[in-house]
Amino acid sequence: MLQTALNIDVRKTSKSRISELDMKNLQFGKSFSDHMFVATYEDGEWKKAEILPYGKMEISPSTSAFHYGQAIFEGMKAYRTDSGEINLFRPEANWKRLNISAERMAMPIISEELFMEGLAQLVNLDRNWVPSDKGTALYIRPFMISTDEFIGVKPSDTYKFIIITSPVGAYYNTPVRVLVETNFIRAVEGGIGYVKAAGNYGRSLFPTRLAQQRGYDQIIWTDARNHRFIEESGTMNAMFMIDDILITPPIGDTILAGITRDSVLTLARDWGYRVQERKISIDEVLDAHRKKTLQEAFGTGTAATIAHIAGIGFEGKDYELPPVEERIFSNRVAQELEAIKKGKSEDKHNWVFHVK
Ligand code: COI
Repeated sequence: MLQTALNIDVRKTSKSRISELDMKNLQFGKSFSDHMFVATYEDGEWKKAEILPYGKMEISPSTSAFHYGQAIFEGMKAYRTDSGEINLFRPEANWKRLNISAERMAMPIISEELFMEGLAQLVNLDRNWVPSDKGTALYIRPFMISTDEFIGVKPSDTYKFIIITSPVGAYYNTPVRVLVETNFIRAVEGGIGYVKAAGNYGRSLFPTRLAQQRGYDQIIWTDARNHRFIEESGTMNAMFMIDDILITPPIGDTILAGITRDSVLTLARDWGYRVQERKISIDEVLDAHRKKTLQEAFGTGTAATIAHIAGIGFEGKDYELPPVEERIFSNRVAQELEAIKKGKSEDKHNWVFHVK
């Protein structure tokens, strides 16, 4: 075992699995790199930090995360530049957000050092797993689960903070068709919609499956009170370009503070676009569609970066959006974000973190 600055014990795999990977045919989230980072919380502190060969873990059936859902996660990516360097994108924003999730779910805070060191050392060790083709990246999944072997309802006293990584291609291969959901809800005021808790995703699966059975890819979530105001698009933040104004629902307790969302808004402002973070109703979107002022609609997220919306279904009718080739802003911002991440465009906002 090697000892590192943060006392991360490193046990390397005796045989890399990378030769089994088809780098030219990457699917989202199916293959995992050679190693994982695991930190253990007990007696009120993060005690042990290790990098181990990726593999199955022994977990008791009474583990509290299985029963009461103290489970939170982050999604981030590492990119390979043309010169072979490995870049992360705004990792400190993921660290901060993980702690916001931790607080809401009564879980322990993770220090910046533990998060960044674990992340950087893991990605550095598995740097050969970072793909280089356009649109590919090493998807990074930091997550925390409660591990008390106890089925009484209370915050756990023990936790694991784990990071696994997965080389990925595109999340969506084509523009998505979305259904405006007016029955089920994703989040309520006072709830956990603003954090990356596993339960937010679990509750979305059944409504999404129903939408998919009707031929849609994803749901546009609406507010819990009246089902009029748009909240998120699938697992992404939702954005609309109407009459050259970029409009997105404001961050609040029902909407996740997306890092791609913030990056897109920042670039839009840099480029002189009018940006409005405000409530937007489905009526306003469809009214703009009728008036032909709805130029673009898209989702933003780490997994997809920009997912163009091709059509919107609402109350039994489908509304087709302008062809993706005509969408000036979303195409430009997708290209610019990729260029910044891959070191081809100036990193004006200090978003890129080099893994050494
Ligand atoms: C993201 O796009 O950042 C997500 O959270 C999607 C992920 C759940 C696959």
